[in-house]
Amino acid sequence: MTTLLALSGSLRLGSSNSVLLEAAGLLAPAGMRIELYRGIGTLPHFNPDLDGDNPPETVLDLRRRVGAADGLLISCPEYARGIPGSFKNALDWLVGSFEFPGKPVALFNASPRASDAQAALRLVLTTMSACIVEQASITLPLLATRLDAMGMVEDPEIAASVKAALAAFARTIETSAQAEPEGSG
Ligand SMILES: Cc1cc2nc3c(=O)[nH]c(=O)nc-3n(C[C@H](O)[C@H](O)[C@H](O)COP(=O)(O)O)c2cc1C
Repeated sequence: MTTLLALSGSLRLGSSNSVLLEAAGLLAPAGMRIELYRGIGTLPHFNPDLDGDNPPETVLDLRRRVGAADGLLISCPEYARGIPGSFKNALDWLVGSFEFPGKPVALFNASPRASDAQAALRLVLTTMSACIVEQASITLPLLATRLDAMGMVEDPEIAASVKAALAAFARTIETSAQAEPEGSG
C-alpha cells in the first residue's frame, strides 16, 4: 500500500486546494491511500528555541505522519504573490526534521494565476531536499468552478488529470523504492 500525506496550504473552510486534495483521495488508484492532514492551523509559530529536545507534540505528530508517508501531496494557494504564512510555518517546522529530506512531493495547484507561490514553493521545497515529481504535478483552473470533491470526481477532465498525476506519482514512488538498497530508509 502506498500512503500519501496530503497537505493543503489553505486553512479556509471550503478551500479549493483542500477540496482538490479530498477529490484526490476519492480518485486514488487501487493500492494508494491518501490521508489529509488537518493540523496546519494548530502548529505553533516556528521558533528554533522550541525545536530542541522536546518539540511541541503537534510538531512531533506532523513529523511522524511525514515519516510514515511514502510521498507528500501538496496543494497551496497564493497569498500576496507568495506562500501563505501558515503553510510556510509548517514547512519551517519540517526543515530540521530527519523525516522530510528526500521525500517525493507532488505539487497540485488549483489556480494557473498562482505562479509566484508555485515558484516560491519549489525553491523552498528543493532547498529542503524534497524530490518534486514533475509528472505528478498539475495545475487546474478550479477557483471559479466552486466544485465540491464529488463535483471534481464527476468532472471528466479534472478526474482524468488527477488520476494520471496520482498514477505517475505511484510509479515514481515504486521505482525509487525498488532502487533503494534493502534495509535502507
Ligand atoms: C490575503 C489573500 C491574498 C491573495 N493574494 C493572491 C495573489 O497574490 N495571487 C493570486 O493569484 N491570488 C491571490 N489570492 C486569491 C487566492 O489565491 C484564492 O482566493 C484561492 O482560492 C485561495 O485558495 P483556497 O480556495 O484553497 O482557500 C489571495 C487571497 C487572499 C485571501
